Amino acid sequence: KKEINIGLLGFGVVGSGVAQILLNHQTDLQHKLGVSVQIKKVMVRNIDKDRDTSLAKDIFTTSLDDILSDDSIDLIVEVMGGTTDAKDAIERSLQAGKGVVTANKDVMAEVGPKLLKIADENGCDLFYEASVGGGIPLIRTLEDGLASDRIHALTGIVNGTTNFMLTKMKEENMSYDAALALATELGFAEADPTADVDGLDAARKMVILASLAFSTEVKLEDVYVRGIREIKDGDVELADRFGYTVKLAGTAKKDENGIEVAVEPVFLPNAHPLASVNNEMNAVYVYGDAVGETMFYGPGAGSLPTATSVTGDIVAACRNLLLGVNGKRKHAPQYERKVKEDAQ
Ligand code: NDP
Ligand code: HSE
Repeated sequence: KKEINIGLLGFGVVGSGVAQILLNHQTDLQHKLGVSVQIKKVMVRNIDKDRDTSLAKDIFTTSLDDILSDDSIDLIVEVMGGTTDAKDAIERSLQAGKGVVTANKDVMAEVGPKLLKIADENGCDLFYEASVGGGIPLIRTLEDGLASDRIHALTGIVNGTTNFMLTKMKEENMSYDAALALATELGFAEADPTADVDGLDAARKMVILASLAFSTEVKLEDVYVRGIREIKDGDVELADRFGYTVKLAGTAKKDENGIEVAVEPVFLPNAHPLASVNNEMNAVYVYGDAVGETMFYGPGAGSLPTATSVTGDIVAACRNLLLGVNGKRKHAPQYERKVKEDAQ
């Protein structure tokens, strides 16, 4: 094989970042993989939109069939977002024998185990590093780096938009509405930003992390969720006057009583390391029996950081394709449990 061809679903904040990295780092990627990685087709909603890209106009399409019927396309990259269409696109891609890389936490938190099973049945990879923590490699850390440990807790900041808003409200006295508008303009917020401010985006990410960390299937409906909508402009300033910083924190704990996952605003003493995680940055502490305390920090949202995780998954999927071991990796503990249950 001289070339691996990608079908890119979505060309917004993340999709355009993926195209930029694949283009700008093509020589490095070719050096690492021994083949070139090309975007063969791009699916968008509005084909007439003006797009700042060097990709040829005629590779843009609105038809998924157009992409799935192209036998030269090896891998699908789903960065369109949403649930119904995206889930359908991932499922159909896998059924067509094409591996998938996705940044979609909505879909992975809700039907991840089902999709991983379909991927396995069809001998395809399904990678989702960008679904949590933007540019921080958290999924692979839990799947590989800490695989031998017994994780008993995770805690941190996993939503860039709300962290950006709370930072601007504290440091620049910006109003809640102005901070949300700026986070949206900068491409951090979801297409429907209520998912960010109401804590649902963070809850979905905690579902993914907790499922991986505790080797079980955590359900979104079991997560206690409270967002930042009720935080008034003066609240952040008042907290600061008493030496505290308001953050939207996600926590997941496992002990003899079971598993508890929650997302809620908390007051952190200003000296707490998470209190100085600012703007769109994310940080997650992982506590394991053997490793002790570890902390992972980096950009939690934004075009190029998120696209770095997506393209990292693309490299992993390409390596597997080249070695002929795609779909061979049992990478989701929750999926393993599901298979065991199905077998009973
Ligand atoms: P955008 O809204 O910026 O882009 C979405 C793209 O998908 C657009 O190009 C849009 O087409 C296309 N699209 C959407 N729905 C359809 C559809 N039904 N059919 C065809 N094309 C469609 O989203 P983002 O790039 O911000 O996010 C993409 C995904 O990445 C989401 O799952 C998000 O949660 C996730 N993510 C985002 C991060 C970020 O910082 N933004 C960080 C981590 C993950 P058109 O251009 O024509 O409108
Ligand atoms: N809207 C999300 C956030 C994007 O702000 O964290 C990254 O997943």
